[in-house]
Amino acid sequence: MIELAVLVSVVTLLVGLAVAFGLRRLPTVRLQLVGLALVAVLLPLSVVLFSGWVMFHMGDDVKILAVTAASASTAIIVGLLVARPIAGEIAGLRSASASLAGGELTARAPEQGPAELADLARSFNEMAENLSRLFDVRRELVAWASHDLRTPISSLQAMLEAVEDGLAEPERYLPAMAEQVRTLARLVEDLFELARIDAGSLNLELREAELVTVIEGCVRGLEAEARARKVNVEAYVGDGARARCAPEQVERVLYNLLTNAVRHTPPDGSVAVRLRADPDEILVVVEDTGNGIDPESATRMFDRFWRGDEARQSNGAGLGLAIARGLVEAHGGRIWAERRPEGGTRVSFTLPALA
Ligand SMILES: Nc1ncnc2c1ncn2[C@@H]1O[C@H](COP(=O)(O)OP(=O)(O)OP(=O)(O)O)[C@@H](O)[C@H]1O
Ligand SMILES: [Mg+2]
Repeated sequence: MIELAVLVSVVTLLVGLAVAFGLRRLPTVRLQLVGLALVAVLLPLSVVLFSGWVMFHMGDDVKILAVTAASASTAIIVGLLVARPIAGEIAGLRSASASLAGGELTARAPEQGPAELADLARSFNEMAENLSRLFDVRRELVAWASHDLRTPISSLQAMLEAVEDGLAEPERYLPAMAEQVRTLARLVEDLFELARIDAGSLNLELREAELVTVIEGCVRGLEAEARARKVNVEAYVGDGARARCAPEQVERVLYNLLTNAVRHTPPDGSVAVRLRADPDEILVVVEDTGNGIDPESATRMFDRFWRGDEARQSNGAGLGLAIARGLVEAHGGRIWAERRPEGGTRVSFTLPALA
């Protein structure tokens, strides 16, 4: 008897496994659920039938068949009822993703139904939200870039026309034209750098470098402008620090921070660069005694083309800090800005220390 029981269990298990594999091949969730319900009823029933036939040569075939038919029908109905909303959720998700693929960025999937499907819909909606934000940023970027490119181009055009019409001597406009060409070249160069940061194709040539040399180089480069604005620039570098970095890129970051600081500091103010080497990172801080920034500007100033109100008239494009952030992050560091409690702005960035 025990052998028979073991045989029946093993056969049941094997049949169950075979049916499960068969069910997985069914094309829709609805069919799979109905099949599962059917198996759940028919498998134990056939075992009971088989055991009854072996043990008692039972004669109640019609009754058992009736019970089988009734339970199988119930299982199918239950399976269909359960599968219906699931299939509905999946259809909702499919139609939302088809709309998104067709360019309708506001398409969202209903976040309801069983937990896994609701989770899937939530992730889908989050992805759609990010995608739509990314598109907005792109649109804004193109709008600002074209605006900033158009300004020097129209100015060049106006000066050329004036010269062509004999309204002015070429020499009169040459310096202004050269300045506009420089602005254009710088903007195109910045946009190119940003595109390379976005594409992750920066190719930083990392090497061990003494940051004091980089800092002193930048301070020297800004001396003339700082003197003209009567702003004092000092570097406090302590014992110095070595970092594994691309020195030209760190110089570019620092040069932009220092230029910003000098340009936002009134005459007789001062700008300081500080360097601190911690065991796991190196901190570079640029602080000024200017008007400072509010908390919203402290985050927004790293956005592309963002300029504070008073900086709008300046000839900066508002790309310097966006590039600085891209370069610092490509080194594995962080960059942030804050208002100094004593007044003025403090912009800091970190670079990983030498391993
Ligand atoms: N030290 C600072 N103090 C006050 N505001 C600042 C300071 N540094 C930056 N900002 C604000 O952040 C904005 C963005 O700076 P960012 O360097 O990105 O652009 P920009 O200097 O205007 O132009 P670009 O650097 O492209 O020539 C500035 O326009 C200014 O409003
Ligand atoms: Mg700048």
